[in-house]
Amino acid sequence: MPTKIEKDALTGTMTTGHEWDGLKELNTPLPKWWLYLFYATIAFSVVWVILYPAFPFKGWTGVTGWVAREAVMDDVNAANARMAPMMNRIREATPQQIAADPQLRSFAMAGGRIAFANNCAGCHGAGGQGAPGGFPSLADDDWIWGGTHDQIRATIAHGIRAGESDEERTSIMPRFVADGMLTLAQANDAAEFVLSLSGRATDQPAVERGRALYADNCASCHGDGGEGNRDVGAPRLNDRVWLNGSDKAAIARFIGAPRLGVMPSWGGRLDPATVNMLTVYVHALGGGEN
Ligand code: HEC
Ligand code: HEC
Repeated sequence: MPTKIEKDALTGTMTTGHEWDGLKELNTPLPKWWLYLFYATIAFSVVWVILYPAFPFKGWTGVTGWVAREAVMDDVNAANARMAPMMNRIREATPQQIAADPQLRSFAMAGGRIAFANNCAGCHGAGGQGAPGGFPSLADDDWIWGGTHDQIRATIAHGIRAGESDEERTSIMPRFVADGMLTLAQANDAAEFVLSLSGRATDQPAVERGRALYADNCASCHGDGGEGNRDVGAPRLNDRVWLNGSDKAAIARFIGAPRLGVMPSWGGRLDPATVNMLTVYVHALGGGEN
């Protein structure tokens, strides 16, 4: 309850006039150094508001006219202007020409690495090593659609099954069980035969039943011996590289209702020079073909 404001005998400090059960509150003043610092920050902020952008008003306030965003844009534009001659050469050249010219190649590898980290690593992994769930490695020599410069460029520029480009890579594998073309048991036999193509089959009678099913239903796309067919993006089945799981259950499930990979088309999103740099970069990751 409020009482008289008075000088506290023990500390020499004034009280606030509040008292609770005989306890009186002291009105200790702020330390001087703290108080002056506080005033200084207020003065500083006033100067700042006058000099620099603080409020959006017909553009920005601030008598100096300096805006951090514009300063960054100036830096970016200057950097782009410096790179423009190189970018123009890379835009005009084919990926083969870029790869054959040491100067263009090192520029493209540096730019390609950054563009890859920004646009591709989310699906294909930071080093292009691929990721589970149908995202292929780009660093090996196992290509679904082809590993020459031209083939890689076409894949990147037009995408895969995304419906974004007339020249996209596209094909379907039938949903054999879901659409009633094979029974579950037949899908299992076909899967066992697929395992035999990479020497992993354990059930010989099932392999024999699957062999005929494969010849009738699968060989047209995947090849008689599972060598694959890049024209239709049908992966090799006679190696140990798998997009969607390598065990029998995963393969049988895929035969029953395949989940087909989709990749956006980058031609409409990225500068053609960037697409060229990405092509050279991906080609050099480890599996590029001539
Ligand atoms: C949204 C995920 C996604 C992103 C982002 C993505 N990709 Fe892909 N990419 C895929 C999938 C899925 C496939 C496999 C498609 C298939 O099954 O045929 C693929 C396939 C490819 C292939 C063909 C591989 C082969 O074996 O023939 C290349 C080359 C490729 N991507 C390059 C790139 C580059 C370069 C970028 C960045 C500009 C990129 N991808 C970004 C999902 C993606
Ligand atoms: C019309 C062409 C076509 C036919 C017919 C076809 N496939 Fe495919 N198959 C594909 C394509 C395209 C893919 C790649 C899907 C992707 O890239 O996501 C594929 C992928 C696969 C895969 C996954 C490979 C991996 O790396 O994970 C398996 C397994 C497979 N097929 C088995 C079969 C079997 C068994 C049959 C016959 C019962 C069959 N396919 C018939 C086109 C075909």
